[in-house]
Amino acid sequence: MSAVGSPSLGNLALSRKEDWKAFAETPRRIQPEQLTRRQVKALGAEARVERDRLLRVWHANLGPIKTPQLAELHDDLWDIVDSNVQDGDKAKGAVAVDAFPGLGKTTSVLAFLGEFHRREIAEQGAFTEAGHERLPVCRVGLTGNTGMKDLNRSLLEFFGHPGRNRGTTAQFGQRALDCVVSCEVRLLALDDLHFLKWNQKNGIEVSNHLKWIANEFPVTLVMIGVGLADKGLFSEGDTRRDTALAQTGRRTTRLGMRPFTIKSEVDRREWRQMLLALEQRVVLADKHPGMLADDLSDYLFARSTGHIGSLMTLINRGCQRAVRSGAERLNRDLLDGVKNDEASEAARKELEAAQEKRQLTSRPRSQRRPAA
Ligand SMILES: Nc1ncnc2c1ncn2[C@@H]1O[C@H](COP(=O)(O)OP(=O)(O)OP(=O)(O)O)[C@@H](O)[C@H]1O
Ligand SMILES: [Mg+2]
Repeated sequence: MSAVGSPSLGNLALSRKEDWKAFAETPRRIQPEQLTRRQVKALGAEARVERDRLLRVWHANLGPIKTPQLAELHDDLWDIVDSNVQDGDKAKGAVAVDAFPGLGKTTSVLAFLGEFHRREIAEQGAFTEAGHERLPVCRVGLTGNTGMKDLNRSLLEFFGHPGRNRGTTAQFGQRALDCVVSCEVRLLALDDLHFLKWNQKNGIEVSNHLKWIANEFPVTLVMIGVGLADKGLFSEGDTRRDTALAQTGRRTTRLGMRPFTIKSEVDRREWRQMLLALEQRVVLADKHPGMLADDLSDYLFARSTGHIGSLMTLINRGCQRAVRSGAERLNRDLLDGVKNDEASEAARKELEAAQEKRQLTSRPRSQRRPAA
């Protein structure tokens, strides 16, 4: 039995069109079979190794879950992208997905880009009228301290352009534009945009460059990053600091992503819904309904502080441990032994103290059991 989907998906970097297409076009993994404890015991050595392997991969790739945050972001993105079908000579509105780390920006945007890619290919075919490969989406992730030239080069890398090694910033830019036009790219996503060199002087340069892309490239620009607002991407700019910033600001819609909270009943219901969805995907022989959503709700909130990234790390590691140790279920004892990221460990103590005093709970009113 082979891993469903492509076993090589683990090797993708998504910075080349081939990888991107494989990501967007590979069907979703199929959930491994849920066995009972008895069935697990009865497995032969070989079948057991195979099950362990399947579960490892499965639990490491549980997402994306359709959280309210993801659904809202997708709705907004569809609105903007679909309203951007005006002819190529008009500048199109840009989007900035701007939120703290670990809230699911990359995951949610990638899911959207994948959907968009499939829709466009289904409607218009894999090739353009001129016979070029159709690539509705171009997506690049930036790395530490990228300059304009590196940004242009990474666009060329995506397309595998032969001229990606020699040239000036402007030449790279022109070649990228050629690729974008011939492959009929509609969405250009720049992830981790905060990595662009963005100091006082470069700020204007960056802004101008993005403006150039937004103006010249017939695409909807999707910028993703942390603290983009603070970098002045949307500021109207004081008059001295150039009006270019103001122009970018006017054309860019900022979309945020929020962590889960437990302040109101609605918030707590959202948290519970998400845990229920997550629970469905966990494949452990001894799991029971409510394992996460009832028994571990407060605990998981304290350990993740409502950040989906921290929660998924914890659940992934917990499931790996539960399979490896044969516990085959998640509970407090097991998860206490699992390390999580530094930020959530730091925030955990305060929350747990408040929960112990019963000042705080993550459970919706209807789901609270009387104290035992
Ligand atoms: N909707 C979701 N369903 C399941 N898992 C998710 C979801 N959103 C995020 N995650 C998980 O949370 C982790 C962090 O998400 P992601 O990398 O998308 O965050 P980010 O906001 O892009 O962070 P950064 O600013 O560090 O790039 C990922 O490991 C991902 O698997
Ligand atoms: Mg990211």
